Formats: sequence, C-alpha cells, structure tokens
Amino acid sequence: MTSAVIGVDVGTTGVKTVAVSPEGEVIAKAEVAYPLSTPRPGWSEQDPEDWWQATQGTLEAMAAAGVDDVRGIGLSGQMHGLVCLDGHDRVLRPAILWNDQRTGAECAEIESRIGLERLIELTGNRALTGFTAPKILWLRHHEPDVYSRIARILLPKDYVRLRLTGEHAIDVADASGTLLFDVANRRWSDEVTDALEIPRSWLPRALESPEISGQTAAGVVVAAGAGDQAAAALGVGVDRPGPLSVVLGTSGVVFAALPAYAAEPQARVHVFCHAVPGSWHAMGVMLSAAGSMQWFRDTLAAGIRFADLDAEAASWAPGSDGLFFLPYLAGERTPHADPDARGAFIGLSLRHDRAAMARSVMEGVAYGLRDSVELLTELGVRAVDGRASGGGARSRLWLSIVASALGVPLELTSVEEGSAFGAALLGGVAGGVFGDSHEAVAACVRVREVIEPRRDWEEAYADGYRRFRELYPALRPRRSGSRGRGGRAARGRRVDRSRRSSRA
Ligand code: XUL
Repeated sequence: MTSAVIGVDVGTTGVKTVAVSPEGEVIAKAEVAYPLSTPRPGWSEQDPEDWWQATQGTLEAMAAAGVDDVRGIGLSGQMHGLVCLDGHDRVLRPAILWNDQRTGAECAEIESRIGLERLIELTGNRALTGFTAPKILWLRHHEPDVYSRIARILLPKDYVRLRLTGEHAIDVADASGTLLFDVANRRWSDEVTDALEIPRSWLPRALESPEISGQTAAGVVVAAGAGDQAAAALGVGVDRPGPLSVVLGTSGVVFAALPAYAAEPQARVHVFCHAVPGSWHAMGVMLSAAGSMQWFRDTLAAGIRFADLDAEAASWAPGSDGLFFLPYLAGERTPHADPDARGAFIGLSLRHDRAAMARSVMEGVAYGLRDSVELLTELGVRAVDGRASGGGARSRLWLSIVASALGVPLELTSVEEGSAFGAALLGGVAGGVFGDSHEAVAACVRVREVIEPRRDWEEAYADGYRRFRELYPALRPRRSGSRGRGGRAARGRRVDRSRRSSRA
C-alpha cells in the first residue's frame, strides 16, 4: 500500500494534482489543462464542468500511479471566481474569473453603498474588479434572469468540492477574497451582505483551512483547503511571519504572513485570512506575471521553448538597453487598481530584438512585484528573503532578475507545485497525518536552492525601477477609452477566443 495525501489545485490554466508521502516526497503528479474564454474584451470565463472533468482525470492518474491509501485530500484554487448554482446545484452560467474586469461600475456602487472607510473596516479590503461581490451585482444588473435563479454561489475549488463530497463549503482564506467576509473575525459579514442585498442563504459554510469539509464517496476526508495564494504560501513553508511567498504564476504575488490582523488604511494590498487557523496575511497581486511571458511567447515568439527564450534573454544586460515593459495586459490590481490599465513596450530602438523584449517582459514583472514589496513594507512587513514558486520560477534568469530587483534572496523549495503541495499538507492535517499546519510544514518543506540578488545588477534595477514607476502615471491620460474603474468595462465586438496554455 502506498500511503499519501493528495492536493488538488484548480488553477486558471488547468488542474494540478499531487500525491505526497507523509515525509513530503511527491510520489505522483498529474495535470489536465482547459481553455479560458474571453467572450468580450476584459471578460474571463471558464466552464466549471471543465474543472470537474480535469480533477477527475488527475485523481484517476493518482490511482493509476499506485496511490491506493489516500489519507486526506486538500483543495486549492484560483480565487474570487463566481460560480452560480440553482436550487438543484446546477451551474447557471460560465464562471466569471479572478482576472475578469467587467465590474468597474459595481465596485464604485459597493464603495458608495457602504462607504470606502467602512468597507475596509468590515472586510479589510476595498472593492476590486476581480473580487466576487461585484460580480454578483453585475449579474443582478446585466443578467437578471440568471440572477433570479441563483440559490447558491461558490468559488472555483468549492465547486469541485461540491462534486467530490456533495458539500457546500469554503475556507476562510478564499472567503476573504469575496468582499463579503469579515476578515478580522473570520466569518461572513452580515452588514456587507445586508447592504448589498445578497441573501445569506447563498453563501457556503466557512471553515478554517485544515478542517474537514466532507468526504468522498470512497470515504476519504476532504479538507476545506485554501485559495491558491494561501495554499502556495503554505506549500513553500510560509506558515508564519518570515520569508515572503513570491509567486510567478499566471498572476504575480508577493505574500507576507502577518503577526496579527492589520488592514492597510487605504487597502492598497489585500489583507486576508491565512490558511493557518487564527492567522492572517497581506499580499499584492499583479494580474499578468507568467501570464505576460505566456502572452509574449504565444504572440511574438510562437513555437519557441521558454528555455530557449531564457537563454536568448540572458544575452542582454540588465535594463535591456532602455526597453521597458508594462505588464498590465489584463488591467492591474496592485498597485494601480485599474481595470483599464494596459500593457506597453516603451523605449524600443533598432537595436532591440526578440530577446531584449523577452528580458524586458521579465524585468517589467519584477518591477511590478517590487511595487507590492514597497506597499507591504509600509504595512510593517520586513522583506528579508522570499520563497519562489509558480511556473515562471522554472527560469533561473527570471529568478535572478526578481531577486536583484527586490534586493532579497529567493529560496526554492524541493517541490515546485506550491499550491497543490500546500493543499496536500492541509489534506494531511484533516486526515490526521500531521497534528497541524506548522507540523506539516516542518515535516515536508525543504529549501533546495537559494538564488541570491546579483550585486552587479542591483544598481541597474534600482535605477530601472525609479524609471518604471514614472511610466504608468505618464501614460495613463493618453489611453483611449480610459474612464477609470467605472468606465466601459465591456465594450466591443463579441469574439470568443478560447486558448489552451501550457505554462503559468
Ligand atoms: C489572488 C488572485 C490570483 C488568483 C490566481 O488574489 O486573484 O492570484 O488566485 O489564481
């Protein structure tokens, strides 16, 4: 018999599942991809059935690999996405995802109904287009037929839980990103749901991440789990204040476990419950990190392997000879909270080639991460070192650029699948393999390599960051169609561009 705990991460590009031994060794892993649909500019949707099919596929792969004594399952997933169900738990429309930007007007509505200051007091956060509550209001305004049939709402991984266990439940870390949650007190906020006229009966039961939410048909316990960022942090050993979790996934994240609950007065970073009971974290989130590199490869370097792009990009000196990339391909959350922000290459010259552009994409993302570090520092976080994960962390060049731009060493842990691994640890706590999350981290997370900042690059990146910060404000008024967050979020021809992605 091979004993294991299983972690399932319901990501944006696919489901990643790992089976982990009680000692923290990955004994099997599987990944099944699915498409992302952008039916209109700024929209981002997926079919929840795809998540379920992909989850089943990866779980079958675990069984085929000989994992026959599953002690617990943990779930993690893309945060904030809205799944609407009718009274028979049938999905009413495609899920609206975390990187969807259609809800500028609804964010303004929420902040005016509740008042920005009170909203931050109640939830620790401000209304951002990716969050769940504005999506519900959008449906009320734009799809009243769907809205009138809603009996329950769930987040992505929680829909997979429903199919796996029949339970409607969520963990406190993921619930924090709905904007309906009283993050300080770790429970739904009646004041917010009342103010927004959202029936309390729609909301799932909120549990601490390692708590048991239900069991599979085969009787395996399923932990509540966590939103992918809290799970990734746990998976790289960020279970208490110390190293930052730096994620180069489709989104880019700088995440700090906090010593106590503390909302940032203007909510420029998110403050959410952590996956460790009784603790919180703050994070800055970029919408297109490895997503920018994926876009660059797919559109301007089609057919080129990421490893080859890295090797090319390494031939350029830091700063890419004055070329800058603004990574706002899907609008931006931290630090600009601007759904209408757009990407740009600035400073192109005849000398620049594809390799320089690839390097400037990496550098633009690194500067965006630095923006989050600056904000976290204002909240009192000490940025001393970081733990890196996500698809982009497979690039040594990119890690060196990020370490040098942030001025901190980045540690790599022995397991690459941060979120799925963190979810597996939570499954192990629920299944009694580990006493608690700290014990799981101590037993399973090991640092295998440290990427130091390059002293000979730091000056170039300090200077580059100063110039990078001037670009967004300088370009902002010139964007056509920019009307801030209440602007025309979803105008344009109806095109359905579905794509499959291989990395991020
Ligand atoms: C976090 C966020 C993203 C998604 C991506 O707030 O929106 O990191 O969770 O999966």
